[in-house]
Amino acid sequence: MTKATNITWQSTQVNKAQRQALVGHRSPVLWFTGLSGSGKSTIANAVAQRLYEEQVNSYVLDGDNMRFGLNSNLGFSAADRQENIRRVGEVAKLFVDAGVITLTAFISPYQADRDQVRDLLAAGEFIEVHVDTPIEVCESRDVKQLYAKARRGEIKGFTGIDAPYEAPTDPEITIDTSKQPLAASVEQIMRYLTNHGYLD
Ligand code: PPS
Repeated sequence: MTKATNITWQSTQVNKAQRQALVGHRSPVLWFTGLSGSGKSTIANAVAQRLYEEQVNSYVLDGDNMRFGLNSNLGFSAADRQENIRRVGEVAKLFVDAGVITLTAFISPYQADRDQVRDLLAAGEFIEVHVDTPIEVCESRDVKQLYAKARRGEIKGFTGIDAPYEAPTDPEITIDTSKQPLAASVEQIMRYLTNHGYLD
């Protein structure tokens, strides 16, 4: 692939601050990271539902879904996961710029890849949410039967079984779904957003 040259950044006339003023709140990314089956998508969607009920616009970018479209040419090697997260980070940045609260649900197993997304955004725009559900609990749920397949060797490089998961070293929020019901996790995130002035 050849890199484009002779390109110049074009500023838009209406900016992020103006769009945020229009909707009346800030537009951070809630970056959910955790093992398969940890509850990332479930919590992200429940928070989106809650925000909707409070008339706040948000958007969920989901790992499985993104892999049907934008990221359909990527697999699960470390390099492909890195590229997956890089692209999602860039997409999330566009949503943030558009003034939309963005919730991403990706395993995003590598700290360096998550940090790269954090660095892409302005201070306070990246809220790392570690969905810290123990692997035994994720495996016992096995909603998609993927752990069973991985244990049988039918999936190679499955996160937590034979591919790494690097837990966040300093996440803004940590949730263990085996210790609290969904409603409490939603409250925990809503409280964080409120207490840190994201919804003002
Ligand atoms: S990553 O690591 O962030 O690039 O992964 P992500 O884009 O979030 O995709 C994870 C979903 O893909 C399914 N799946 C796998 N997960 C982990 N490892 C392997 N090898 C794998 N193969 C398929 C699985 O459904 C994941 O969804 P969640 O919602 O996390 O269970």
